[in-house]
Amino acid sequence: DASDIEKGTYPHYMLKEIDEQPLVMRKIIQKYQDVNGQLNVDTEIVNAVNEADRIYIVACGTSYHAGLVGKQFIEKWAEIPVEVHVASEFSYNMPLLSEKPLFIFISQSGETADSRAVLVQVKELGHKALTITNVPGSTLSREADYTLLLHAGPEIAVASTKAYTAQIAVLAILAAVIAEANGKALSFDLMQELGIIANAMETLCDQKEEMDTIAREYLSTTRNCFFIGRTLDYYVGLEGALKLKEISYIQAEGFAGGELKHGTIALIEHGTPVIALATQEHINLSIRGNVKEVVARGANPCIISMKGLEEEGDRFVLPKVNEDLTPLISVIPLQLIAYYAALHRSCDVDKPRNLAKSVTVE
Ligand code: G6P
Repeated sequence: DASDIEKGTYPHYMLKEIDEQPLVMRKIIQKYQDVNGQLNVDTEIVNAVNEADRIYIVACGTSYHAGLVGKQFIEKWAEIPVEVHVASEFSYNMPLLSEKPLFIFISQSGETADSRAVLVQVKELGHKALTITNVPGSTLSREADYTLLLHAGPEIAVASTKAYTAQIAVLAILAAVIAEANGKALSFDLMQELGIIANAMETLCDQKEEMDTIAREYLSTTRNCFFIGRTLDYYVGLEGALKLKEISYIQAEGFAGGELKHGTIALIEHGTPVIALATQEHINLSIRGNVKEVVARGANPCIISMKGLEEEGDRFVLPKVNEDLTPLISVIPLQLIAYYAALHRSCDVDKPRNLAKSVTVE
């Protein structure tokens, strides 16, 4: 498979798994492409999604964050409405379902009890379910009607990295296939773009020293940290904050750039690190406005922008990729920054306190 369970020369599984992301992207391209280079997803799955009037994505933790990004692809490209739900809430507070719902469970392990509880409920109601998982034969895979595999190889570190980008890539492929089947072909070649992304991921994985410096500069002594972004950058910020919390124990929160002023900005003090993502042209001005608001309150800003949108003073510039797909690369510096922050604070990167790789209790 894409990964060997050994750590090899790596000090931690997490770093090894971050580095495997370009390889996993290429593996996914290969697995979801037919001999003619066309997108290849089981027709049964395509039909099931196409028959749905609304898609319900259900997941936990990092997989939930991947679901938020996936919603954008499915709504924008395939034009099917999507709701994304945290599994533990859904099971006790089920929303009013549409007439022909389709459920997508996203789970690296395929064993998460909160997600399984929802799967059991919706199967009882007679609905169809697709599981997107890294583990063939896992409970969620066996109990759902359909499965799409991540092909990411075993993920050992508790903090999920390569599974997140694999989930986003597979959701993109699914959305593109559905769009195509409905005569709404994308204006770009997704597989070609994913190839470009694999290369960009490699470039980013080669910039570890820079991420180490950023982590040292912003996070070695701080009590808290905020991540801001708008649209896709907001969702990636949620994941960046989760990574940082999980392994460095720094209190970190992701916020929609425009929402900060409605309360949370009260927490900004002199020197508070604010990591801002700016990868989307249509909101570049407004996120930069949000950065100015926090800087005016004393924040220490770390702007991560994308080539073409960069401005003087940005701390890091990502290679240019298709704007719809930026989460696949903008998350990498955030994963690495979290990793180095945890190292600087002498935390156990692969086995953070209180957390388990797969949570099999509700
Ligand atoms: C646990 C892990 C998280 C993970 C979540 C969902 O809480 O610590 O890293 O995102 O479960 O796991 P799943 O296997 O369902 O993706």
